[in-house]
Amino acid sequence: MTNATHPFDALMEITARPRSVFVRGEGSFLWDDSGRRYLDFVQGWAVNCLGHSPQIVADALAAQAKRLITPSPAFYNDMSLKLAQALIEHSCFERVFFANCGAEANEGAIKLARKYGALHKNGAHEIITFEGGFHGRTLATMSASGKKAFEPLFEPKVQGFPKARLNDLASVERLISDGTVGVMLEPIQGEAGVWPATDRFLRDLRELTKARGLLLILDEIQTGVGRTGKLFDYERAEIAPDIMTLGKGIGGGVPLAALLATEAVSCFEHGDQGGTFCGNPLMCAAGLAVLKRVSAPAFLKSVTSTGLYLEGELQRLSVRHGLGEVRGRGLLLALDLKMPIAASIVAQAFEEGVLLNAPKSDALRFMPALNVTREEIDSMIDCLDSVLTRMGAARWVA
Ligand SMILES: Cc1ncc(COP(=O)(O)O)c(C=O)c1O
Repeated sequence: MTNATHPFDALMEITARPRSVFVRGEGSFLWDDSGRRYLDFVQGWAVNCLGHSPQIVADALAAQAKRLITPSPAFYNDMSLKLAQALIEHSCFERVFFANCGAEANEGAIKLARKYGALHKNGAHEIITFEGGFHGRTLATMSASGKKAFEPLFEPKVQGFPKARLNDLASVERLISDGTVGVMLEPIQGEAGVWPATDRFLRDLRELTKARGLLLILDEIQTGVGRTGKLFDYERAEIAPDIMTLGKGIGGGVPLAALLATEAVSCFEHGDQGGTFCGNPLMCAAGLAVLKRVSAPAFLKSVTSTGLYLEGELQRLSVRHGLGEVRGRGLLLALDLKMPIAASIVAQAFEEGVLLNAPKSDALRFMPALNVTREEIDSMIDCLDSVLTRMGAARWVA
């Protein structure tokens, strides 16, 4: 089928997409149906932590598909038990609920917090979230998000998500009332343009929430599973949240997400939570293979050193072209462009066979595979350098 004959109109229009049709992926590369190769620094929005179609995920899926795919969430299965146990052993949590995507895991976190409030805090149900935060696209998670573009959409919103400002403890304190049950945030606001919560803020927030009897909920859907050089980013701030959500990287490319909580907070009763595909062994087998690889200390160390390399190269590029700061941690970084030229850079890089992401009009976000090589980073930087040089020259001529 050629590009002209693809039935594009069969899909609902949900976003502007280039008219390339991808058919194969391997590591840091994707191929379209014309055989053209692209170097991918988006990786499904930080999903493919081991790159495209990693052998260990393909093998785990193939082996599990032959054994058992879905026995029903009404029965235990060995893979979900093994993955839940492995997550508990690697974290500060004691119970796991598996979901299919990040929004569903966050929806579960919100429900768990509200249940906790109903049982232990006189029905308190408000969860303080943050301006610029992003928690998903269900009605409750859009309401919990602090994304400006969501504000006019799908009214009426789900109530109970007052917004504080990131790294501003007083703005959180001001919103606490008898109706508050918890505070929910991303350790790094990814969609907003990669804005990190400082370690200090996270520690102060943990102290404040403890002192006021509130739950601390961390959305580690983008930062978790090795992305920042720690298995979970909360480890860096040396805090222990009450609830954490994982998604994206946990499945290495397949739809898998998780809601983790301490024993004290795990208060769902029968009938409160569930889902047909939740914890199916096929996805959990992939998750187990990924976790085994990513949790190895040498792997996490390499994420940190590769991240520092990428950060250094981006900083050099920024100085060369008079751009702004480089933000983020590990392999979740942003380059501030100081001008609304991100979409144009992404389009030009695409023409040169490099996939980049622009979360904001003036910022590029980099979320390559966690095993991206330095040569691949150099190729991406060369491409960006030539695009920026061309754009600079065009501005000069104009
Ligand atoms: C921090 C964060 N939370 C939640 C989500 C929603 O995840 P999903 O798209 O898998 O529902 C995302 C997705 O980008 C995210 O970055």
